[in-house]
Amino acid sequence: MSDTRVALVTGSGQGIGRGIALKLASDGFDIAVADLPFQEEKAAGVVKEIEALGRKAFFTPVDVSDKTQIEAAVAATVDTLGGFDVIVNNAGIAQIKPFLDITEEDLDKIFKINVNSVVFGTQAAAKSFIERGVKGRIISAASIASIKGFPILGAYSASKFAVRGFTQVAAQELAPKGITVNAYAPGIVGTGMWDLIDKELSKINGKPVGQNLKENVDSIALGRIETPDDVAGVVSFFASENADYVTGQVLLVDGGMLYN
Ligand SMILES: NC(=O)c1ccc[n+]([C@@H]2O[C@H](COP(=O)([O-])OP(=O)(O)OC[C@H]3O[C@@H](n4cnc5c(N)ncnc54)[C@H](O)[C@@H]3O)[C@@H](O)[C@H]2O)c1
Repeated sequence: MSDTRVALVTGSGQGIGRGIALKLASDGFDIAVADLPFQEEKAAGVVKEIEALGRKAFFTPVDVSDKTQIEAAVAATVDTLGGFDVIVNNAGIAQIKPFLDITEEDLDKIFKINVNSVVFGTQAAAKSFIERGVKGRIISAASIASIKGFPILGAYSASKFAVRGFTQVAAQELAPKGITVNAYAPGIVGTGMWDLIDKELSKINGKPVGQNLKENVDSIALGRIETPDDVAGVVSFFASENADYVTGQVLLVDGGMLYN
């Protein structure tokens, strides 16, 4: 890696992405905070938090489902921060629907945001690493739903299984270049995504708002909801020298929900 270590984190205006951006900044990385344009205000707050840690940061607006925009975000990162060593393909969305109701539009949308983004982000990062001779790291958001399919999360589970499959393929193709490719698989993290899942589940099964979240959290062996910091610790490991010999892995960070 170059002297100045730089990471681009997608979907880092809030939630898990924000937690990852702050953790990598505290590890010494300068950070490109990438998110949709409407998240500019939140992203500016994250940039300030990173600067307060003594690192450089900037906001790069991007729709990760668009190949050209991801390539532009990578180029802007190299230009603005003078390097680029790690991409975290974190941005993603959930959909909550019985599978019989899933439409073509639903599938197009979730695959573009959760899967195409990972392929395009991995391509853009790998091309930049190879051009600049960097043994970079590619780290993507999977989920417990990449290991086990969850009812009412059919399209989401399918998209996260795809992330897991692609991670294994890219790891093998990029290994000769010294680039590693891994993914993190969180469980139940208290972010906007779970607010939405809880609300939508409640519409489907009639349980009061909050009840579905509580029941899911009650099933966690370590007995508490997951935080973005819990996830960020695993990403920090994948981005560090401690993970030099780790590639093609999807690491569950779920407090004890699934076991493999
Ligand atoms: N919250 C959980 O329990 C949980 C569990 C397992 C996996 N994950 C995964 O972790 C990742 C982050 O989830 P989160 O809980 O922080 O969600 P979140 O909804 O709180 O944040 C997602 C971020 O991604 C951004 N985003 C969405 N679509 C985008 C696009 N097209 N282009 C650029 N940015 C976009 C949003 O603006 C937002 O800032 C997702 O990939 C999600 O599937 C979350």
